[in-house]
Amino acid sequence: MFSYHVAVTELPDDLALPRALTTREGPRNLPALRRGVELRDVWFRYDERQPWVLKGVDLFIPFGRSLALVGLNGAGKSTLIKLLCRFYDPVRGSVHWDGTDLRDVPPPELRARMAVLFQDFMSYDLTARENIGVGALELLGDDEIRRAAGLAGAHELVTALPRGYDTLLSRIFFADGEGGEDDPAAGTTLSGGQWQRLALARALLRQSRDLLVLDEPSAGLDAQAEYEVHARLRAHRAGRMSLLVSHRLSAVREADVIVLLDGGRITEQGTHDELMAAGGAYERLFTVQARGYLPQPAAAES
Ligand SMILES: Nc1ncnc2c1ncn2[C@@H]1O[C@H](COP(=O)(O)OP(=O)(O)OP(=O)(O)O)[C@@H](O)[C@H]1O
Ligand SMILES: [Mg+2]
Repeated sequence: MFSYHVAVTELPDDLALPRALTTREGPRNLPALRRGVELRDVWFRYDERQPWVLKGVDLFIPFGRSLALVGLNGAGKSTLIKLLCRFYDPVRGSVHWDGTDLRDVPPPELRARMAVLFQDFMSYDLTARENIGVGALELLGDDEIRRAAGLAGAHELVTALPRGYDTLLSRIFFADGEGGEDDPAAGTTLSGGQWQRLALARALLRQSRDLLVLDEPSAGLDAQAEYEVHARLRAHRAGRMSLLVSHRLSAVREADVIVLLDGGRITEQGTHDELMAAGGAYERLFTVQARGYLPQPAAAES
């Protein structure tokens, strides 16, 4: 038995303390993905005293296709992503990478094949360039960083910073009076939406990975930025294998397959047109959201 401590560049808050995962057969190489990733009757809860979060999820994510995962708050979407990254193992059932049980794969091998933007992403007290490149240090060269920043809608905001990509995004190193507010060396801080774009760029930098996972990549973006980012992501995801979680249903409608998670179970699955025609929960969610963008009927005159 081999045990590995979680060693990744981004840890969700709930994993601030490393926990040991045991790998049964390791260490072994994980070949490049060919067929797809599969969840087989996956049951998961965070603790024995807590309710099940995933209750027998069966899901196949085919290689080269784009999949969208939707569902209400607390449905278990981010939890499912954490299982795909092997932050946790299923309590029952299994997750397979081309037929290989993830329990037989050392986590660093798996994570080297994925690019993931977590919903609760990290912001680092580093330069803008390093914030984008921290997950793939071999790609810290200008061209790659700029390409990823452009895709994430971050390039313009970064070039407007006092030192562009070399601006320190922190003030903590200068807390004792060195470097006043006007000193560019004192570093700077970003807004929530601007941090979100850098985190998205960080995931998109790893473009050669087999699987791209984006958990709410546009939360916190203004309407214009959200529209632009999703348009670019649509082009970027075409022909690549990706999993997108978003409450913005206009952004998921182009996915090859849309999966609705409800109460820890997959209750609907299909293309946008199929799910709309089925008239189920997806259709209701989509219609409610779309209605919010239509002109309000004039109030009846009294
Ligand atoms: N670290 C944790 N420990 C215990 N319970 C957790 C933990 N993380 C999530 N949960 C619980 O698991 C359930 C599913 O949470 P999850 O974050 O997967 O939902 P979600 O579908 O991503 O929701 P949202 O749309 O709000 O992002 C929730 O009831 C949540 O309280
Ligand atoms: Mg979530």
